[in-house]
Amino acid sequence: MPALRTLRTPDGNPDADLLFVGEGPGEQEDLQGLPFVGKAGELLTQMIEKGLGIPRPEVYICNIVKCRPPRNRDPQPDEVEACRAFLDGQIAAVKPKVIVSLGKPAASLLLGRKVAITRERGNWQTYQGIPLMPTLHPAYLLRQYTAENRRAVWDDLKAAHNRTLRDESPEDS
Ligand code: URA
Repeated sequence: MPALRTLRTPDGNPDADLLFVGEGPGEQEDLQGLPFVGKAGELLTQMIEKGLGIPRPEVYICNIVKCRPPRNRDPQPDEVEACRAFLDGQIAAVKPKVIVSLGKPAASLLLGRKVAITRERGNWQTYQGIPLMPTLHPAYLLRQYTAENRRAVWDDLKAAHNRTLRDESPEDS
């Protein structure tokens, strides 16, 4: 994997209730050293800010790999494994009330199995005792910008946000 440029961490609020996990930096993210600042990031930011009404700096956004894979290829298992402790450290430090995983690779890593994301999105899971909502990746949504997909992601984000507003212990579903 190429050298890390200027990944600034943390991105967002270290006390965030809502933590998003994506796949890995794209070109813009690599250049700017921040997650989700390209086209997919614009869509994600819009959904968080305009949709949920939360300023982006109040949530926490990270990726399963911290460097951009060459030519935008999928991260390889050893690369994902190498970044795992970093990701787990971020989650442990933030202690969010809810995690939202974006796309198949993030859901698959956190759940430890191959997730069929279009089928399994929207169903509550748990990661290290924290409620986890798997949803579609915003880059996928941009490619398949159907009313059905937009509704699905919106439902998932609303459910995740609503859950952060509940008072119960994070383990309750
Ligand atoms: N896609 C991701 O999964 N993460 C980013 O930071 C940008 C695009």
